[in-house]
Amino acid sequence: MPATAPPSPLRKGILLAGGRGTRLHPLTRTVNKHLLPVYDKPLIYYPLTTLMLAGVRDVLVLSDPHGISAMREALGDGRQWGLAISYGAQARPGGIADGLLVAADFVGNDPFSLVLGDNIFYGRGFMTVLTRAAELAADGKAVVFTQLVAEPQRYGVVKLDADQRPVQIVEKPADPPSKHAVTGLYFYDRRAIGFAKTLAPSQRGELEITDLNRLYLERGDLVVTQLGRGMVWFDAGSPQNLLVAADLVQIFQARQRTGIAFPEEVAFRIGLIDRTAFKALVDAMPESEYRTYLAALHEEFATR
Ligand code: G1P
Repeated sequence: MPATAPPSPLRKGILLAGGRGTRLHPLTRTVNKHLLPVYDKPLIYYPLTTLMLAGVRDVLVLSDPHGISAMREALGDGRQWGLAISYGAQARPGGIADGLLVAADFVGNDPFSLVLGDNIFYGRGFMTVLTRAAELAADGKAVVFTQLVAEPQRYGVVKLDADQRPVQIVEKPADPPSKHAVTGLYFYDRRAIGFAKTLAPSQRGELEITDLNRLYLERGDLVVTQLGRGMVWFDAGSPQNLLVAADLVQIFQARQRTGIAFPEEVAFRIGLIDRTAFKALVDAMPESEYRTYLAALHEEFATR
């Protein structure tokens, strides 16, 4: 039986799928970066299911104006997975925090989560970590997740004090104060949009999410959660990372027979759809390895 998730303290999530994906040229000349395959499913399924595991039920997908129709075709209105998915255009490449301004009406006065469309997370116990972050955001905090990386200068970087509390956060520092990179998954309380409105563009002409996070840090309201060794995190925005991410998904799925980022499976497991709806989704799929996995899962659920 699916475990019915408790009522979520945070129902809204923004999936930022903007940009033209020029680092993946020429792949992205005709296909939106977020619809490129990561092994057996489109890249965007991975951050989407991360939001679902965090308790998000209302999703706003923000894309550049050219990308919206393809995105809509890929995800639909979300009802099939027990979600409500809507779409918005981020007309200018103004940065992640600029996306929040576009999403202001959607967010209203609620806490929300934000995930970058090319970020992939996978690991044991992640749902517990996400649920805790959602609670903190509902309780007036911002939450970011960090992972130790070899090249922190490519990311937002956090410096922690001896008690593991954040004391500094900087975007792509030439001389990084630590190796704790900030990943592309954020939780905010209801103040975030107001704070984002006060930001000025950075040197690269963007409203930086790191500048927003700094406003929380200065108020003592930034919670930094370190993703431990067992967690996989990828920003799949380069050819090499796309390949490595695909390899990892294939290896985990084949060896452990656990599906990674199947929205149908997640929706069923957390109680967003029932077994009949799950079966109908599987039946409507053409023969494929994707369908075979879900059909086997349905059999398994039926015998429990
Ligand atoms: C963005 C953020 C950065 C963060 C990274 C995670 O970088 O600005 O702080 O570490 O996402 O993927 P960008 O993708 O804009 O280079």
